[in-house]
Amino acid sequence: MKQIAIYTSGGDAPGMNACIRAVVRGAIYHGLKVYGIRRGYNGMISGDIFEMTSSSVSNIVQRGGTILKSARSKEFMTPEGRKKAYDNLVKFGIDGLVAIGGNGTFTGAEVFYNEYQLPTVGCPGTIDNDLYGTDYTIGFDSAVNTSLEAIDKIRDTADSHDRVFFIEVMGRDSGYIAVQSGIGGGAEIVMVPETHTPLKKVVSSLKDGWRRSKSSSIVVVAEGDEEGHATEIAEKIKAQVGDKLDIRVTTLGHVQRGGSPTAYDRILASRMGLAAVEGLMNGQKNVMAGVVNNEVVYTPFIDTIKKTKPIHDDLLRMVHILSI
Ligand code: F6P
Repeated sequence: MKQIAIYTSGGDAPGMNACIRAVVRGAIYHGLKVYGIRRGYNGMISGDIFEMTSSSVSNIVQRGGTILKSARSKEFMTPEGRKKAYDNLVKFGIDGLVAIGGNGTFTGAEVFYNEYQLPTVGCPGTIDNDLYGTDYTIGFDSAVNTSLEAIDKIRDTADSHDRVFFIEVMGRDSGYIAVQSGIGGGAEIVMVPETHTPLKKVVSSLKDGWRRSKSSSIVVVAEGDEEGHATEIAEKIKAQVGDKLDIRVTTLGHVQRGGSPTAYDRILASRMGLAAVEGLMNGQKNVMAGVVNNEVVYTPFIDTIKKTKPIHDDLLRMVHILSI
């Protein structure tokens, strides 16, 4: 292994830059040449590839987003697109890849590896924390803290007006952000895609709170909940309770994806970035570098994509118990 390339792909996540920095500096430390690829698989296809030096990654450990930019590439899903990408990598003499991203990124990496056998190690970068093979993904802790800050602020106004707020957080297929920010923010109810929360149950627990003179209630909804988005859920609830409850909705959206990464994310990202480089040097391929029980582990891409990481029932039970 002499020359490696690094790219970020899919939804950006705070801490991706810290990971890029660790890959670049880790590679240089070990005597490798390192290239950056801009805009994920799109840059691989168009040949937007450039050499990186130690100073290319100065002053980025604290920055959100990704200096390499990101994209969700449609063209890479085609064999023709992947062939173009491979030809460009060969042109630059690249013999190993580090992919920072989530499910979609690793699905692409898995297909690419099966076609061209170019060793690739992934670093889990997604705010969703929905990847098997790591306890936490890069960006999750920062996103939870951003959501929590917003929930705390909404609680102030909810409390002043005796209102019920439905707050939608990100998580297309996963309720990790909802559960953690819900617990941290003292939510009355948390709705996640992993478990069905019937609207009847939501209504009865909100009415219950109202009878007990709760001055405010917060329902945190993961965007992928099967009852729909927070706006739809709130409409359905309003139809059932009338003006007994004063209901408002806030969708936090992409604010959760930006901002300076937390200390936890910076350290996790640095550790995973270095583990990816050292993994490649030690013959790892087609795997993701994760951290489980505080140890670095390498998990085949296929498992990170196919296997699920369920939310512990205890956490949802806790939301219910602590909101009485
Ligand atoms: O996968 C990360 C994520 O932020 C999801 O939580 C969300 O559903 C999705 O990306 C949004 O994607 P986009 O930025 O392409 O709208």
